[in-house]
Amino acid sequence: MNVRSEAFMPVQVVTAASAVGTPLGASHPHESAGLHVSGEATYTDDIPELHGTLHCALGLSQKAHARIVALDLDPVRRAPGVVAVLTAADIPGENNCGPVLHDDPLLADAVVQYIGQPVFAVVAQSQDAARRAARLAVIQYEELPAIYTPQQAKAAHAGVLPPMHLKRGDPAEAIAHAPHRLAGTFECKGQEQFYLEGQVSYAVPKEGRGVHVWCSTQHPSEMQALVAHALGWHSHQVLVECRRMGGGFGGKESQSALFACVAAVCATRLNRPVKLRLDRDDDFMITGKRHGFYYQYEVGFDDEGRILGVDLDMTLNAGYSADLSEAVATRAVCHVDNAYYLPDVAISALCGKTNTQSNTAFRGFGGPQGALVMEVILDMIGRRLGRDPLDIRRINFYGVGERNTTPYGQIVLDNVLHPLVAELEATSDYRARRAAARIFNGTSPVLKKGLALTPVKFGISFNVPAFNQAGALVHVYRDGSVLVNHGGTEMGQGLNTKVAQVVANELGLDMEHVRITATDTSKVANTSATAASTGSDLNGKAAQDAASKIRRRLAKYAAKRYGGSADSVVFANNQVMVNERAIPFVEVVDGAYWEQTQLWSEGFYATPGIRWDKATMTGKPFYYYAYGAAVSEVLIDTLTGEWKLLRADLLHDVGQSINPAIDTGQVEGAFIQGMGWLTTEDLCWSKDGRLLTHAPSTYKIPAINDCPADFRVKLFKNRNIKDSIYRSKAVGEPPLLLPFSVFNAIRDAVASTADYRLEPALNAPATPEAILNALAGLRGTHADDHLG
Ligand code: MTE
Ligand code: MOS
Repeated sequence: MNVRSEAFMPVQVVTAASAVGTPLGASHPHESAGLHVSGEATYTDDIPELHGTLHCALGLSQKAHARIVALDLDPVRRAPGVVAVLTAADIPGENNCGPVLHDDPLLADAVVQYIGQPVFAVVAQSQDAARRAARLAVIQYEELPAIYTPQQAKAAHAGVLPPMHLKRGDPAEAIAHAPHRLAGTFECKGQEQFYLEGQVSYAVPKEGRGVHVWCSTQHPSEMQALVAHALGWHSHQVLVECRRMGGGFGGKESQSALFACVAAVCATRLNRPVKLRLDRDDDFMITGKRHGFYYQYEVGFDDEGRILGVDLDMTLNAGYSADLSEAVATRAVCHVDNAYYLPDVAISALCGKTNTQSNTAFRGFGGPQGALVMEVILDMIGRRLGRDPLDIRRINFYGVGERNTTPYGQIVLDNVLHPLVAELEATSDYRARRAAARIFNGTSPVLKKGLALTPVKFGISFNVPAFNQAGALVHVYRDGSVLVNHGGTEMGQGLNTKVAQVVANELGLDMEHVRITATDTSKVANTSATAASTGSDLNGKAAQDAASKIRRRLAKYAAKRYGGSADSVVFANNQVMVNERAIPFVEVVDGAYWEQTQLWSEGFYATPGIRWDKATMTGKPFYYYAYGAAVSEVLIDTLTGEWKLLRADLLHDVGQSINPAIDTGQVEGAFIQGMGWLTTEDLCWSKDGRLLTHAPSTYKIPAINDCPADFRVKLFKNRNIKDSIYRSKAVGEPPLLLPFSVFNAIRDAVASTADYRLEPALNAPATPEAILNALAGLRGTHADDHLG
């Protein structure tokens, strides 16, 4: 297939020894699409098990915070099929899998900090035997006081890290003197990643104190390092491999480590292959989720709705340990502004310590939580002033050449908010449909419509500058076939397809000639997590670097062999154009081999110019921004609280798309996933800290019938102003913020029942129960108004 998108304009200057191949900008199918649908795609659990493979299950804490006074594992050891039972004392190296701080034990030692925390590991002949045996432990606890919510953590000043503060100007003064003020609290809950493939690791001992770990992970290099620490070994003794994940969504960035480490400890201890694959319920009970946030805000604005000052205090539900919370909170602080210039602003964030799962990365990494509260506030300002919230948004948008410095000091140079939102406003027929919804609501007593437009500005890069680097390894074999390896991981997002397109384009080949192999720590070393949406930006550039080195060597050989200058050699259509002749690529490759040419190469890339000062929370943390906007129209039933998304119009900026089909899929998927977070996905814990929603029976992720019947998704015509891979932009996370429009549309529909004069008390997720409560709240206030 070789469908070129209309939006694609070739950007590369056709210079010396360049390729004019067509793979870029075309909607090639995902490299594994066929394998996915036929069931042939090999995930970690599908790898044929070696003879003698054993299975591991974890015994979990049943108390939220307690000292273990007695641990009787004899009944576990006596259970059928059990080969060994291991506790913290059996870990030869460091009992920790914390990615940043060392506060994450693999197996709890003496104290447990949440219900679901692994306490011991059982290794048995089958997974079923291991799981049954794990339930037989007799544990005596002495309970300790526990904290369950971010509000409680805030009141107790309990943090997994010191609080963060960012301040510009004098927000208190600006708010005090503003013509209008809003103050209040808001909340959003967390979200389970719900990757379809659960956490899994398969560890196989190798000769001479080595171990090979197949792990479903976004971060093979970190798994390698943490497995080495747990064993008390060096990194070169550990090989971590991942061909693909059945979804990661951030949940396998740091939190695949516990399973990799425990499997490796068991395997090396018993000298047998050991697999640790979690059942869905255990995965929910053990692993961290998106951070829920509690916000206290105060905003001052003028008669036009222009924001003058903002004071925002955020408390994250970090769970029991630090994990990645510092980076999540930092990204949240850096996304409160979203698309808006906030002149005087104070933002603080506390990573509240609670006795729950340790919350972690989830698509957007705190960015969505930072921006959500501001988008809710903008709608409130619109209602307060009796004006369309789109007008309020527009007046506050970052300017071009002015009003363009973010609270953290980075200047917004690539702003496309104004044209992008103008285009969407027109194509979605926003004004007419807002007016129509109001008319409908005036005549419809039970069903009410709501409509909202929300924009996105999302910063791209890791804000730990060093993480913005990547490596690749490209082999050209003598038959002209190409094998590519890079440090990124494939989790369904299409990274491998894009990297293959880059390499094919660089060498002037069709996609069939390029094959991508599993991510493997023995091929590319010291890689970063595939995260922060930077996968194709970083690994695409590294692979391009590797391929272009080979291309230059081939060009040099071709010029020598066929005449002409190396600089004028062109690679295209599986051929090499040299001295007015077209030679098949394979012929040039084979000829070059006989001339002793190196036909493989490594490549490297580091994003330039990223700076971050942690102490002042200022710098230039992002290489560029990705933009987008969405209009959502909902219908709510005021008697049941049920609602439906009638239509969604999305316009999203991926720069110049490497693969429009894959990018469109990412935009659609992120929108629906974010909508789930804000509406149906409702994590609930019992009052003693037990997660009650730990399976699809009680935790509702969106399904195909939750997608709007009328779903219009378009990529914005743009090109990155920065020298990104083919001037594309990262797409993985930014569109997760587009469904803010769904949440605000629901609030708009609820507010219609009070003639848009009162603010609904509606936090996220807007479940039918929450919607009913918000409606009842408005009725209550309404009645009081009349009485008063
Ligand atoms: N898409 C699919 N299908 N599955 C995933 O697990 N993860 C998301 C996003 N899109 C994910 C996905 C997250 S959290 C990130 S950070 C990016 O993909 C990572 O990949 P990229 O950097 O290559 O875009
Ligand atoms: Mo994505 S949350 O950065 O793995």
